[in-house]
Amino acid sequence: MKHLSTFMLIFVFLFTSCTFDNKGKSTLLFKDITTAITPIEIETDQAYLKLQKNLFKASCTKCHNAETAIKKDRLDLTKKKLILENYDDILYRMTDAFDMGFDYMPEEGGPVSAALIDELKAWKTSLDHL
Ligand code: HEC
Repeated sequence: MKHLSTFMLIFVFLFTSCTFDNKGKSTLLFKDITTAITPIEIETDQAYLKLQKNLFKASCTKCHNAETAIKKDRLDLTKKKLILENYDDILYRMTDAFDMGFDYMPEEGGPVSAALIDELKAWKTSLDHL
């Protein structure tokens, strides 16, 4: 019985000290949601928008999108920044890789038209001169 009352005392002490320590405040921390809100980005690069539609969306993004980037570790060709960062590889796979006979893209359905490749090159050059 003596042990039990000692135990109760310790329990009450711990319980009250916890309550006082918290000073009635919630211990749950909420993430600062203001940092999660980013301004809506509006793409104004018309040449890029045209390429995104006629080249990437038409021939690539079925396999190269935000979802396959995560699930299959594949390049996301819906993102301008990533397209520019990987430009040389992207161009190679649509052109010389066909001559080499491997690593060419798109994998199926034949090469992208020469006219679109020229548009892509012209777009890249125009950005390099900015
Ligand atoms: C039918 C699906 C499919 C289509 C369409 C496709 N790709 Fe791919 N692509 C793949 C697969 C699978 C890989 C990974 C295997 C490899 O490296 O060959 C890949 C790899 C790549 C890579 C290397 C980086 C990476 O993601 O691993 C580049 C660059 C690339 N593709 C560019 C393109 C471009 C540009 C187009 C459109 C002209 C395109 N692909 C269309 C399936 C596709």
